[in-house]
Amino acid sequence: MSTDPRRVPSTPAVPGRHLTLTVGPPAAGGTFVARHEGRVVFVRGTAPGETVTARLLDDPEKQADARFWRAEAIDVLEAGVDRLPTVWEEASVDGVGGAEWAHIALPAQRRIASEVMQELLRRAGVTSYPIEDVQVEPAPHDIDGLSSRTRVRFAVDGDGRVGMRPWRSHEVRDAGENPLAAAAIRDLRLGEWTAPEGTEAIDAVAPSAGPASVVLIGRELDPSAIEIPEAWGDADVAVRTGRGLIPLRGDGTVHERVGERMFTVSATGFWQGHRRAAELLTDVVETTLRAPRGGSAWDLYGGVGLFAATAAEQVGPDGAVITIEGNRRASQLAGENLEDLPQVSTATADVVDWVRARRGGVDVVVLDPPRTGAGVELMGLLARAVRQRIVYVSCEPSTLARDLAAIEKAGWKIVDLRAFDLFPHTHHVESVTVLERA
Ligand SMILES: C[S@@+](CC[C@H](N)C(=O)[O-])C[C@H]1O[C@@H](n2cnc3c(N)ncnc32)[C@H](O)[C@@H]1O
Repeated sequence: MSTDPRRVPSTPAVPGRHLTLTVGPPAAGGTFVARHEGRVVFVRGTAPGETVTARLLDDPEKQADARFWRAEAIDVLEAGVDRLPTVWEEASVDGVGGAEWAHIALPAQRRIASEVMQELLRRAGVTSYPIEDVQVEPAPHDIDGLSSRTRVRFAVDGDGRVGMRPWRSHEVRDAGENPLAAAAIRDLRLGEWTAPEGTEAIDAVAPSAGPASVVLIGRELDPSAIEIPEAWGDADVAVRTGRGLIPLRGDGTVHERVGERMFTVSATGFWQGHRRAAELLTDVVETTLRAPRGGSAWDLYGGVGLFAATAAEQVGPDGAVITIEGNRRASQLAGENLEDLPQVSTATADVVDWVRARRGGVDVVVLDPPRTGAGVELMGLLARAVRQRIVYVSCEPSTLARDLAAIEKAGWKIVDLRAFDLFPHTHHVESVTVLERA
């Protein structure tokens, strides 16, 4: 075996189930395209230009007629130029999930993610923007993509061992030090702790203001059985059972600062995960939304009011901003977070139902849907209702591409599209697209 440090450990090949593959361009989902006897094989755990031994994840006999197979690299026979020693040993092909590109140099990750995003836009039929200009940018001051995740969900097995799950598996494995997690999460040393009986998962949060937070999750958990370990320092602690969130230390919320403004978020609620994300996305929304003074704005999928705050500053006290959010607790916190901005009102509703029922239009909209995207129906409704601009914040390029193609057909055009590496060492990409009437 080679002494090349970039090689992953050798596993004996099994004829029929193991293939030697030469890896080509990237595909969606963090995989890469190879070919075996003319058939496409999507391979995970590799990089462009490599020759690998890959284990088939599909049964070649049962799926002899399938258009493609899926596989994972178990041995690198010839490393590609983009391969580096992994930044997270425990997140290898057989290890925990959540860092499927940890073995690829960071600039190459961004180049590959740009290629994938461009291809998705092309395939969806997006035409109003020069697609080759879409390039994934690093978050400001993010040198190595490490220590950037401020929200980490740990898994717990039946013996109370705390780790993480491998890709598409229910097992719980040791996650090691998890170098992608913010220091305040690593300092909790959850991997060395034995969780009390009934713990199914643990949410750890490293907010930008105030102490870290640990929430033990388990339908049948008994809060009185929990002894808070010393390693957790002054972290807030809560338990989420079938009866809801029960704070043991703190009040079940965390605090996030963006510029001069503080936001309160539920300890298990949504907040942008990369430590620079909220500030970066706020800056981009601020420069692109252009809500008119005294005008109107909707903040769809508003969470605890991050972008509504920006829209409210722009429309001023004589304008009107409505933030629409499906989660009751998040919507309530949005109301409290933006109490000093009386031009903001909140609605707890499904976004599509709300927009469908709304009479009259709006000057500008910012929307930030989950990975499933806004959907073709909502894009059609917005194409009719919005008078000036739409700013679409997306965490999933494939659904974004579908939605952009739909709104182009309804007479809108893309005037700006920026993509950001807010999930370093994974294939995920965040982006902000600005739309105007064509
Ligand atoms: C990606 S987050 C964005 C939150 C917020 N814009 C932020 O940056 O903090 C998406 C939000 O949409 C909410 N959501 C998901 N599906 C929804 C729906 N169908 N209707 C309303 N809200 C929804 C989630 O609860 C979540 O808060």
